[in-house]
Amino acid sequence: MEEIKVFCPATIANVSCGFDVLGLALDSIGDEMIVRKTDEKGIKITKILGQDLPLETEKNVSGVAGLAFLEHGDYQGGFEIEIDKRIKPGSGIGSSAASSAGAVCAMNELLGRPFSNLELTQFAMQGEKLASSVAHADNVAPAIYGGFTLVRSYEPLDIVSIPTPDELFATVIHPQIEIKTSDSRKILKTKLTLETGIRQWGNLGGLVAGLFQSDYDLIGRSLEDHVVEPIRSILIPGFDAIKQNAMEAGALGCGISGSGPSIFALSKGETTAQKVAESMRKTYGSIGIDFDIHVSKVNTQGVKPL
Ligand code: HSE
Repeated sequence: MEEIKVFCPATIANVSCGFDVLGLALDSIGDEMIVRKTDEKGIKITKILGQDLPLETEKNVSGVAGLAFLEHGDYQGGFEIEIDKRIKPGSGIGSSAASSAGAVCAMNELLGRPFSNLELTQFAMQGEKLASSVAHADNVAPAIYGGFTLVRSYEPLDIVSIPTPDELFATVIHPQIEIKTSDSRKILKTKLTLETGIRQWGNLGGLVAGLFQSDYDLIGRSLEDHVVEPIRSILIPGFDAIKQNAMEAGALGCGISGSGPSIFALSKGETTAQKVAESMRKTYGSIGIDFDIHVSKVNTQGVKPL
């Protein structure tokens, strides 16, 4: 195979209680990317549609992730990349992760899969480092593995795949404002009280157990964030109203997607997820900021060929 076209999923990182460790991949939102082998060594980004992003390899997250890929293994050629960028940067649904993960997964496929998902995650994290100064894995891991993933440890990197209950759907509203992950990380507190830690890890354990047991009530009770949401929600116009109305519409839980401004809700069943979308549409309609809304099942495959 000389060329491949892939779907690179958007992702919801943190999922309320799992800052920097938990994430899930979406199915109905993502970028498309074409990657082809070249005789010339190195990575060349030949085309970017949809967004104004740098073509220079070292300034583009897919370029940087691709270079990390090429540094390992014994492939002597290079790759060309075309990106149809459908996820806006600064949206909070893993725009940089989609490009980074898409590039390394496509390259791996073209070479007959020499690298494991864990190794691909390490390469893709270099793209995240370029985008937000921190090589966090909670977007790239679900984009690569699919479904829900937990970063059990960063050093050494240890990723755990978590099963997805069949009826779980996500609703995401993306207000058309940009929040840079690097900026929204700067405002976070660097120390927690023991009391806050206890509440947070109780919920994280509860959420993981709820996902394993397909216990939707437990999933709902666990979708709480005592660490990040109280600080970051101030940056998102209408956050409290969206959350309250989503819960009244039947969502299991609602929180900030990644570093925002997108807000996500999880629901049992597509019908409820659509009702939540309707409540978000009504709530945001009066705020005066444009927005997109997506309803999606969880993508258990991750980056996939098109
Ligand atoms: N865990 C990261 C953050 C995700 O919240 O800063 C960014 O998408």
